[in-house]
Amino acid sequence: MMFRLEKQVAIVTGGAKGIGEGICEVFCKAGAQVILWDVLDRGEEVAQRIQEAGYKIMFQKVDVTSKNSVEHAIAEIISRFGRVDIMINNAGIIRDRSFQKITDDEWNSVINVNLNSLYVTTKAVLPIMKEAGYGRIISASSINAAAGAFGQTNYCATKAAIQGFTRALCKEVGRYGITVNCVAPGFVKSDMTDAMPEHVVQAGNDTCRTYRDPSRYGILLLVFGI
Ligand SMILES: NC(=O)c1ccc[n+]([C@@H]2O[C@H](COP(=O)([O-])OP(=O)(O)OC[C@H]3O[C@@H](n4cnc5c(N)ncnc54)[C@H](O)[C@@H]3O)[C@@H](O)[C@H]2O)c1
Repeated sequence: MMFRLEKQVAIVTGGAKGIGEGICEVFCKAGAQVILWDVLDRGEEVAQRIQEAGYKIMFQKVDVTSKNSVEHAIAEIISRFGRVDIMINNAGIIRDRSFQKITDDEWNSVINVNLNSLYVTTKAVLPIMKEAGYGRIISASSINAAAGAFGQTNYCATKAAIQGFTRALCKEVGRYGITVNCVAPGFVKSDMTDAMPEHVVQAGNDTCRTYRDPSRYGILLLVFGI
């Protein structure tokens, strides 16, 4: 592999399945110590499987919308490894419904998990990265940020906001050796897209080639985000 991340500590949010699981595998293979964050206990099984293959990975059950949960996890990482080099904001959800029918909960939960989580995680890791004079922050946007999608006003709003957040933050922290990037995937096979109506996925695939293997996006992040 072209990129080597030995001695680097990388946090991957939403790593228990889908694209996040693929990112964990790719970053582990590049030599990083990966910390898998997820609300699902499945994260433990994923971490164990990857560890048994000879790589360095640890699971922490973390809710990225909770300041307490994130700060507690970061404190443990610092006491064990002393650093955080890479923060990958991958966790995301959909609660699709046309705007007139959408409920407060469907709106707020998507804004919280997809967007407010970036405020929480970035606040927690920035001081560490700034002191080290090095950091990489990479977040998951979506092709639908630009394209829009029926029933996804909440989701598209967050994914477009992530692009604005990224462009603004890099202007503030570049001087400290910290880069901020996001990737905007097309439709990748995962539980998220499996939950969408077939014709929606098909329409997406007609305009943007689908990589069925989520780890392809791990490689993309490695190439463009590091
Ligand atoms: N799959 C696609 O086609 C596609 C396309 C564009 C963008 N994306 C983005 O890529 C990211 C990953 O998507 P995916 O398809 O792998 O989804 P997925 O549903 O398969 O996985 C998302 C993961 O995030 C975790 N998660 C949800 N809420 C969380 C929370 N509060 N704290 C911690 N973890 C939480 C879930 O438990 C799950 O493991 C998302 O941000 C998504 O919006 C996906």
